[in-house]
Amino acid sequence: MSGHNVWTHKGTFLLAAVGSAVGLGNLWRFPYLTGENGGGAFILIYALTIFAVGIPILIAETMLGRTSRQSPIMGMRHLTKTHKTSRAWESIGWLGAVSAFLILSFYSVIAGWALHYTWLMLTGSLVGADAATISAGFDALLASPGLMTLYHTLFIAFSALIVGMGIHKGIESGLRIMMPALFVILIVVLIYGIINGDVRAAASFLFTFNIADLSLEGWLQAMGQSFFTLSLGMGAIMAYGAYMSSEASLTRTAIAVAFVDTAVAMVAGLAIFSLVFGAGLETGQGPGLMFVTLPLAFADMPFGALVGGVFFILVLGAAVSSSISLIEPVAAFLVERFDMTRPQAVTIMVVAAWAMGLLTVVSFNIWAEGTIFHTLFGRSAFDFIELLTNIFMPLGGLLIALFAGWALTQSEVMKELGTNLTWFKTWRFLVRFVGPAAVSFVFLRTIPQVEGYVIPTLGALLIVGAFALSQRLRKPAA
Ligand code: PHE
Repeated sequence: MSGHNVWTHKGTFLLAAVGSAVGLGNLWRFPYLTGENGGGAFILIYALTIFAVGIPILIAETMLGRTSRQSPIMGMRHLTKTHKTSRAWESIGWLGAVSAFLILSFYSVIAGWALHYTWLMLTGSLVGADAATISAGFDALLASPGLMTLYHTLFIAFSALIVGMGIHKGIESGLRIMMPALFVILIVVLIYGIINGDVRAAASFLFTFNIADLSLEGWLQAMGQSFFTLSLGMGAIMAYGAYMSSEASLTRTAIAVAFVDTAVAMVAGLAIFSLVFGAGLETGQGPGLMFVTLPLAFADMPFGALVGGVFFILVLGAAVSSSISLIEPVAAFLVERFDMTRPQAVTIMVVAAWAMGLLTVVSFNIWAEGTIFHTLFGRSAFDFIELLTNIFMPLGGLLIALFAGWALTQSEVMKELGTNLTWFKTWRFLVRFVGPAAVSFVFLRTIPQVEGYVIPTLGALLIVGAFALSQRLRKPAA
């Protein structure tokens, strides 16, 4: 085993996992997908999958990291040996690496938008601006591939620097201040929304559960979002779990992460939709939702430029603490497997993801229509990459659930979990049956019928299948 050190403080894993989970997924992706999918029904599926599927898998994924104490791919390899199961399970690590790479590519572009707004806020450019001005400003940003590429480059380079230097320690104290501060400002915006917006309309939009409202694609997006927001099914949590202290409780930690993560998403959603309904904006306006509604509140509130500036800095902090958890599993693998130095490994991952990110940049302007992605999948490159993650993450989660529930030796798992028998049985029932059934149900219900879904699904299965096969065919390592 390589010299993996363990986070000595029991709470460190919790903090790191919250840092990974809370990010653009809560502030940007959750509200925009909810808005596009008509509100309550989307939230219902999202919340159900978080609690019945997400938490058990979060426990499972952390456990896989902690028992193996290695990066996801090497860790899976190790576990298949110690538990004498098929090496095909190693495909979990590979699929995760692909997902991490895809997510990082667009994550960094969107975080770049936050960089732009930090600048606009701190220079006071939007003070007193009305909705039309603000949304015109956002459109201007989208229309400029150059500007977006610049921000994307700055963000990804900064994340790479942090991971490359291995300064997780420094991040820790940063997170302790930033996360609560972010939450406080969200509450401030919510209060502003309650006073000046329409919180009643927002609440009824978000919490009226009419399941018939949800489109087929909405089902897949809701499930995908629950994995996305918890950083699940792609190795990030496994990579962090590898450093987790053996004393900390897996169950309690997982529940805490899910709770905090959901709370941030809900407050952000309520605040944003209060503003949307108050100003008569559109709920289904897409990825720009957060960036045209929140500045509207900051443009008008007292000290808005300052509050808004600090807010977007905190958004950036939350995004960095998530993006480092996207880089970490792949980088750790390259280090362990190919004996690269950390900076080398990080550079390879980040340069590749940066280049891929350019596809997202142009999806909002010069490649907004008429590309091969539109012909094949009925959507832009960015939407296609998001779609891939909506398939890959639940698929990875499904495999993790099956592996932890069926392939691992029971006594080992009980020892790791360290709970009583009832809890253990409940958890095992959830990962053995409920999680796999729920994911399969949504996949089977949606994939054959939604435009553009069949090919990527076959692609994902092909990746898993090819690795599975190659592992089976290879001679067992001596
Ligand atoms: N959970 C993060 C967010 O909500 C995104 C993320 C996904 C991070 C997967 C790591 C792994 O912003």
